[in-house]
Amino acid sequence: MATVEIKNEGKKIEVPDGSSLVELEGKCSILFACKAGTCGSCKVKVLEGMENLEPANETEKAGLEIFGGSSDERLLCQCKIKKGKVVVEY
Ligand code: FES
Repeated sequence: MATVEIKNEGKKIEVPDGSSLVELEGKCSILFACKAGTCGSCKVKVLEGMENLEPANETEKAGLEIFGGSSDERLLCQCKIKKGKVVVEY
């Protein structure tokens, strides 16, 4: 299992290795309005463990460009966790 810590909620959520992080919907307060990388509601800052996320797909890259995402930000609806722990805040 992999762990996503939502720092500003003080929550640690376990998901299977290789999961899409859209899995976090309903388990935290992050909104997943479109789940298509087009609304920016699921954008988070990665504080630790970026290496444990799969590289951004083309949809995520395009979305981050639109929403002004810096290199430490990701759209959770588009990314997958490989394993280990990732710490994010929004
Ligand atoms: S839910 Fe809209 S960009 Fe992720």
